[in-house]
Amino acid sequence: MPAFSATSPGKIILFGEHAVVYGEPSIAIPVFPTQAKAIVSARIQGKPGEIWIEAPDISLSSSIDQLEISHPLRSAIQLVIGDTNLDLVPSCNIQVTSEIPPASGMGSSAAISISIIRAFSAFLGIRLNNEQVSDLAFEVEKIHHGTPSGIDNTVIAYQKPVYYRKGTPFEFLEIGEKFSVLIVDSGMPGNTREAVEGVRVRWQKEPDRYNQIFSRAGEITQEAKRIIETGNPDHLGVLMNENHELLQEIGVSTPEIDKLVLEAINAGALGAKLSGGGLGGHIIALVDSKIEYISGELERKGAISTRITQVTHQGFIK
Ligand code: PMV
Repeated sequence: MPAFSATSPGKIILFGEHAVVYGEPSIAIPVFPTQAKAIVSARIQGKPGEIWIEAPDISLSSSIDQLEISHPLRSAIQLVIGDTNLDLVPSCNIQVTSEIPPASGMGSSAAISISIIRAFSAFLGIRLNNEQVSDLAFEVEKIHHGTPSGIDNTVIAYQKPVYYRKGTPFEFLEIGEKFSVLIVDSGMPGNTREAVEGVRVRWQKEPDRYNQIFSRAGEITQEAKRIIETGNPDHLGVLMNENHELLQEIGVSTPEIDKLVLEAINAGALGAKLSGGGLGGHIIALVDSKIEYISGELERKGAISTRITQVTHQGFIK
């Protein structure tokens, strides 16, 4: 019997993280050079219903029954089964690998869920469209992050740049003129769940101040959309810097992240910001020249890796 496999890209958020949880728009782009992959193959000797999962990156090799019921890998599989009318699924082995750095704001959890959902549903002979895949992954995201906005599962399921506002149909984003972004790993693990919960507690204490910040982030995102669609992407740098200041104000940046943002600008980036949930993770920097130099400077100043990528209408291409 053939094996069924699926890959999913990572993602970065260009503008609007956190504000998107409060109904403001956000822009996210798939990052194809880093991928998560799931391969599903039949276990000839296995008993019906027996599903084995192997995730060597996290040293996991287990029957799914032995994982906690809320384990995200188990949840992704159970959600697919729940969508079928099968009483017992054929025994299979699911292997999961990922090049996307975990806990870093690059969508590793959504990319892993989506790869599993796609490969496992294909194994069961079920055809799911992008919307169904995205909806199932959103259910898993809720287990990971508590109150996700839905942007990660959307951009990764559709694999195209998106302009996303919770509760309204999302739009694909046209890229008027390609531009380059450095994706810089701070090496400090982020924690999206904690960051989102922390923002919520502070928002409850000072709703007016936080609402103003979110609404400004929303305006920045709308302006960025206009610029990205019509060209002249250099101006995005100013907007990135301002978006980063807002993320600082809501308490999701860290001294290490702020230092990298500043180093990027000092080295010649047109703008830079935290990307994703924060408290660690990645920064992104808009660059148009001296790219190798800026990347070298950031690695000298503490970044553990930098990826030079071009944003095109398809997403990030190396
Ligand atoms: O850290 P990531 O890549 O999962 O991004 C989180 C983005 C937030 O806006 C902070 C949360 C969300 O659900 O949109």
